[in-house]
Amino acid sequence: MTTDADLVTDAMSRVVEASSLDELNAIETELLGKRSALAQSQKALGALEPDQRREAGQHIQNVRKEIEAIVAARRALLEETAQTERLAADRLDLTEVFGTTVPWRGHNHLVQRTRDELEDVFVGMGFAVAEGPEVETDWYNFEALNMPHAHPARGMWDTLYLRLGDPETVVLRTHTSPVQIRLMQAQEPPIYAVMPGRCYRRDTPDARHIPTFNQIEGLVIDRGISFADLAGTIEVFTTAYFGPDIHSRLRPSYFPFTEPSAEYEITCTICGGSGCRTCSHTGWIELGGCGMVDPAVLAAVGLDDETWSGFAFGFGIDRCAQMRHEIPDMRVLLENDVRLLRQI
Ligand code: PHE
Repeated sequence: MTTDADLVTDAMSRVVEASSLDELNAIETELLGKRSALAQSQKALGALEPDQRREAGQHIQNVRKEIEAIVAARRALLEETAQTERLAADRLDLTEVFGTTVPWRGHNHLVQRTRDELEDVFVGMGFAVAEGPEVETDWYNFEALNMPHAHPARGMWDTLYLRLGDPETVVLRTHTSPVQIRLMQAQEPPIYAVMPGRCYRRDTPDARHIPTFNQIEGLVIDRGISFADLAGTIEVFTTAYFGPDIHSRLRPSYFPFTEPSAEYEITCTICGGSGCRTCSHTGWIELGGCGMVDPAVLAAVGLDDETWSGFAFGFGIDRCAQMRHEIPDMRVLLENDVRLLRQI
């Protein structure tokens, strides 16, 4: 005769054989279901005497509980395994490996890095950093900078207009100079600030021009500022950023918002000043413009030109990167070719 212990041991060996939840369910039905030996014994109870029936019934209940516990333990184990397998199957490998098992880390784009370094140099010289909007009104981009409507100098900037408001009243800023105006409106002098940012011009891209480029503007407004302060600032910046062998020079030029105005040039970084094709055999490369802030600009923001004077400059961040890293064609800065981005 099979004993309770036999039943339980038997059930246990059946249950551990179950290698999936489906199998376990089938075995469970076999052991505890209506057609199981246990269910048969239960039915047979009816034929027993009341005393015997109670005792035998108790046994059957105990066995049933034990088997149920064994099944539950196995089920928990199988469910855990199934879950682990599901997660492993769902796992997505998002790492992309290029010829090496070490995944590479990204870094800032060269233009961003150049901008950060330029800011650092100016911050080291005591300048603050300010920013302004890339979508500007005609007033900030031109008029407040001493270029009334139809001023011929507006032609110096190939302007992209936006279809906003009245025709030709909203532009993509053509330079960072409008931020000078915003800064003078926002704070009282003295002002020592640089203003980096993206600018737009309706230019056909070539090796030295891209229609979306970056400038850094400088503005100093204080008492008794002279052209010598401007030239000194430019020279200190040039050697700090490009190295001790690269110097600056200013050549007379014209901008409506500065008077006198100058073109800012540095020693050609390609030939070191001896003359080459890049610098058209002059030994100098143009980087931007500068000059003493025109009294008309001070008047536009309500500053008294008897008390205050200052200088401003603006030059290309992308051009700086091009000169320092000897990049032959500026267009690569916009192409996002990872082979270029990785090496600089
Ligand atoms: N805004 C001028 C340009 O984009 C550069 C400049 C800035 C000139 C400040 C003088 C003073 O060409």
